[in-house]
Formats: sequence, structure tokens, C-alpha cells
Amino acid sequence: MALKKACEAFSKGLMEEVHKWGCMKQNGVSLRYMMKFGSRPTDRNLLISAQFLHKELPIRIARRAIELENLPYGLSDKPAVLKVRDWYLDSFRDLRSFPEIKNTNDENDFTQMIKAIKVRHNNVVPMMALGVQQLKQGIDPKIVHEDLDEIHQFLDRFYMSRIGIRMLIGQHVELHNPNPAPHCVGYIHTKMSPVEVAQCASEDSRAICCREYGSAPEVIIFGDPSFTFPYVPTHLHLMVFELVKNSLRAVQERFLDSDKVAPPIRIVVAEGIEDVTIKVSDEGGGIARSGLPKIFTYLYSTARNPLTENSDLGTGDVVTMAGYGYGLPISRLYAQYFGGDLQIISMEGYGTDAYLHLSRLGDSQEPLP
Ligand SMILES: Nc1ncnc2c1ncn2[C@@H]1O[C@H](COP(=O)(O)OP(=O)(O)OP(=O)(O)O)[C@@H](O)[C@H]1O
Ligand SMILES: [Mg+2]
Repeated sequence: MALKKACEAFSKGLMEEVHKWGCMKQNGVSLRYMMKFGSRPTDRNLLISAQFLHKELPIRIARRAIELENLPYGLSDKPAVLKVRDWYLDSFRDLRSFPEIKNTNDENDFTQMIKAIKVRHNNVVPMMALGVQQLKQGIDPKIVHEDLDEIHQFLDRFYMSRIGIRMLIGQHVELHNPNPAPHCVGYIHTKMSPVEVAQCASEDSRAICCREYGSAPEVIIFGDPSFTFPYVPTHLHLMVFELVKNSLRAVQERFLDSDKVAPPIRIVVAEGIEDVTIKVSDEGGGIARSGLPKIFTYLYSTARNPLTENSDLGTGDVVTMAGYGYGLPISRLYAQYFGGDLQIISMEGYGTDAYLHLSRLGDSQEPLP
């Protein structure tokens, strides 16, 4: 089924409905709103939340399904992309065929259904990466980076939307947890210590570095561990993990054949009024200025690509040091999702500084591509 056009694989009625829902207005939610709403997960609030998702998720999913049908350079016809599109259409159908949510029983059934949707979409990122790679193999090498801007912009919108959908589903499902961890409202930790999360993410990156290179440079963190603010720890963990992984790789590669001790990676956590900023600095030799415009694209990596058609996308847990070229662009989307940003400044011949800005106020509206 995955290789067919949507109009062949899905009924005409469903496709018409996708187009109708894809034109409806999306409604964003801020971190602050999610935190306030979720702090009282009463049956009534869960019902309201489920009713909101019942309307909102099909709109967001329909938009992506339509976009997946209309990508340039034949990307829409790549087998991996067709598979992703089928996941979106299946999820749209599940949501639309679910009847009106009237009581707690309906709400529980709905929660189980959206939980299954989240699992269905677990491998969207590597599967899309595979699709882009299938495209890259067949494309005229002359049109690679600059001309593929449209694809980069699509992927930015697509992954940003995915972050939002997964946050909304995850948050709703998590509110059912009868024993939430202290200070946790769904995915949000109301007293998250950025220093602690950075420590944990750095250790995870170092473990992978040790596995791949046999050793790992030190990571030193400057900042007050007792400072906290409300944020989603899994998001911050992912971003710091990616940045530290890049730094470790750069330093390792640079000092591989040297008798000098590899210099440590330094992380500074700064508490501002508007932003919490996390700087990750390395002495890994930096990035050439000509290469900088490429580092946030999904097609660029200086590492060997670990994705092949035979990769086992089912397990999804095999983390490597580098290779997809997704670490930076995806981390930037996570930062922007709650109103932050990610910038990379480099001194070629010396090292790189990554500035991760996280909005402290939590009141920025979800970006809705
Ligand atoms: N700290 C750094 N020092 C030197 N080069 C860097 C650094 N961070 C990123 N780069 C360059 O930018 C490229 C893109 O980084 P990105 O994290 O997006 O992808 P990747 O590390 O190649 O693969 P992965 O998806 O596994 O992270 C890298 O391949 C590397 O060439
Ligand atoms: Mg990386």
C-alpha cells in the first residue's frame, strides 16, 4: 500500500475531508497555558483537553498530509515519504472516525487512541531522512544545496509541526499519570534546573563518544545548580545532548593524533530576565565560514551517513555520534518551539560556540506552520 498515490490507497471521501480540514485554522497553546491548565487535571479538565485535541489534531495532521503530497523534485514519490504520508492519513482517519467525546469513558478511549498515534509516528524523522536521501541519490548534483531551499523550509515546517503535535499528545497522556513526579505537570517541570539537565545530557553524549572513540574530553559546567525555571526537560536534554555531541566529535577528531590532552568543553548557564542562555564552547577547530550556511540544513553533514535502505528503523534507539546532519536544525526547532533560538558562532582554526536561548517567560505562542 505504501507505494500507491493517496487517491489510490485511500477513499475519495477521506481525501476530500483531509483537504477540508487542512484549510481550517490551527490553534496554538503556550507553555504557560499548558502548565496552568495541567496543574489541575480534573476529569472535567481532561475532558476539555480531549475535546480540544479531537478538533485540533486532525487540522494539524491534515496540513502535513497535504504538504507531503506536493513536495518538489519528486520527493513526494519516494517510498519512504509515501510511508510517512500513509501514517499521517491513517492517523487523520482514526481521529475523524472517533465519535464526539461526551464523558470520561470516551475521554479514556480517546487518550488510548492518541497514544497509539504518537507511537505510529515514532520513526517519522529517520524515515523522512531516508526519503531525502533517496532523493539526493537521484538528483542532479548541480542542484544540491542552494536550490533545495524549498525542501529545507518544508522540513522545518514539518518537524516543527511534529514537535507541537507530540507535545500536545504527550502532555494530555501524561496528565493521566496518577503519580506524577514532584513539580511535574505533564512534560513540563515547573522547577527544572538547567545545570542538572545539562550535566545529564553531557554524560549521555560522553558515553557515546567513549563508545565510538574509546575516550571523551571533559565537559565542565559553570552555573548555579539550584537555579530553576519551568521548561520541558526532555527538550532541553535533547538540545544539549546534540550540541555536546558535536563539540566532542570536533575535539576528538582534532586531537586524535596529538599528544596534547584534549581541551574540555565548557558550558555556561546564564540566568537572564527574558532568557536562560546556555553556551557550549569547544576548541574543536571551528567551522569554515563558507560552511556555516549549510550547518542548519538537513542535507549537510561531514560525517558518514549511517542511514541506508536496510537500516532497521524499527528499533530507533541506535544513537551514533553524527551522521544524519539533523542535530543542529532539529535542536533549533526545539528551541524555537517555546520562543527560544539557537545560534552557532565559530572561529575557524580554534573552536565553536553554540548559544542556546530559552525563553523564560513561557508565554510565546506555539509556532504554527
Ligand atoms: N562544534 C562543532 N565544531 C565543528 N563542526 C561542527 C560543530 N557542530 C557542528 N559542526 C558541523 O556541522 C555539521 C552539522 O551538524 P549536525 O549536528 O546538524 O549534524 P551531524 O553532527 O553531522 O549529524 P547528527 O544528525 O548525527 O547530529 C557537522 O557535520 C559538522 O561538520
Ligand atoms: Mg550532530
